[in-house]
Amino acid sequence: MSNPFTTALLRWYRNHGRDLPWRHTSDPYPIWLSEVILQQTRIAQGLAYWERFMEQFPTVETLAAASEDEVLRQWQGLGYYSRARNLHAAAKQIVAMGGFPKKYEEIRQLKGVGDYTAAAIASFAFGLPHAAIDGNAYRVLARYYGIETPINTTTAKKEFAAVAQQLLPARQAADFNQAMMDFGATLCTPTSPKCPECPLAEGCEALHSHRTDVLPVKQKTVKMATRHFTFVYVRCQGEIAIMRRPAGDIWQGLWQPLLIEGDVNGEKVWHELEEKGQFTLLAKNVKHVLTHRIIYADFFLLEVAVKPSLPQGYVWTTETDLCRYALPRLVERLLEHLPSSTMPAGAQR
Ligand code: ADE
Ligand code: SF4
Repeated sequence: MSNPFTTALLRWYRNHGRDLPWRHTSDPYPIWLSEVILQQTRIAQGLAYWERFMEQFPTVETLAAASEDEVLRQWQGLGYYSRARNLHAAAKQIVAMGGFPKKYEEIRQLKGVGDYTAAAIASFAFGLPHAAIDGNAYRVLARYYGIETPINTTTAKKEFAAVAQQLLPARQAADFNQAMMDFGATLCTPTSPKCPECPLAEGCEALHSHRTDVLPVKQKTVKMATRHFTFVYVRCQGEIAIMRRPAGDIWQGLWQPLLIEGDVNGEKVWHELEEKGQFTLLAKNVKHVLTHRIIYADFFLLEVAVKPSLPQGYVWTTETDLCRYALPRLVERLLEHLPSSTMPAGAQR
């Protein structure tokens, strides 16, 4: 027995579903491949990649036997390259398992396969009754049922999973999941859904309460700006170059060694210093979390025999005097990375 939502959705899908090549097979390999490609890629772009992958690696065995370089080369242009590496690793997992797993829990164990992808593969390839809930499904359900729980929360994940699972007809799981995707992608679209021609309009809560433009609700995440800093501890015969940070941020008034923000390659001072001496990398991509910012910092030591000219504001001080200066915690972390034999007294606080 079906509910009105599922009945109307499946009827709509029979007439308006998209014809996509991976829907003509129940072989889990091409289905899995399509899902991984479509995780962050639009169908129009993903289709060509899927076809080329199927040509280049027609079976999971051929994919597993390929080199990572070959796989990455085929992936070139799709972005999010961890997907390609996971795909390759999972192909090897599958071969080691003796073939493509047929149970949801086993599929879910594959690298790069989350709840959604596992449900998609399980239903499309094996007809298993698992609701695959992607962004389309969240949107359609939030609108139809007027659910205001922010969709990017764990509460919502459970709530929507329960609703979708309830609606899913056990023997038409694949059609139901594909229908939700197509319905959300072509009719109940993020902006300007086509409500006047919608077969679900009669029961749609968002339409009746004029909330199609506010549902689904998404919780604003505090977006942390990330910045990249390169600190160069320029040392010349026991002295180092430091500057006092001007007004403008939380480090105002604190002292720091030579700082280059962003990409060093565009910085004249970096290239000038390169000619003056030998950079020693002390630490790379040190993650430093502040209230509204994440900094990734590279620390370098540069030993020079003659004091180079530096950008305005830098002064020379002896390393033994460094302990008299107030330093940001991130600069202290740099000092901790200095070779211990050359660690200034100032760092041993
Ligand atoms: N996006 C991700 N998987 C899809 C599928 N199987 N059909 C259509 N769009 C999709
Ligand atoms: Fe989406 Fe509009 Fe249909 Fe409601 S009536 S399900 S908002 S397209």
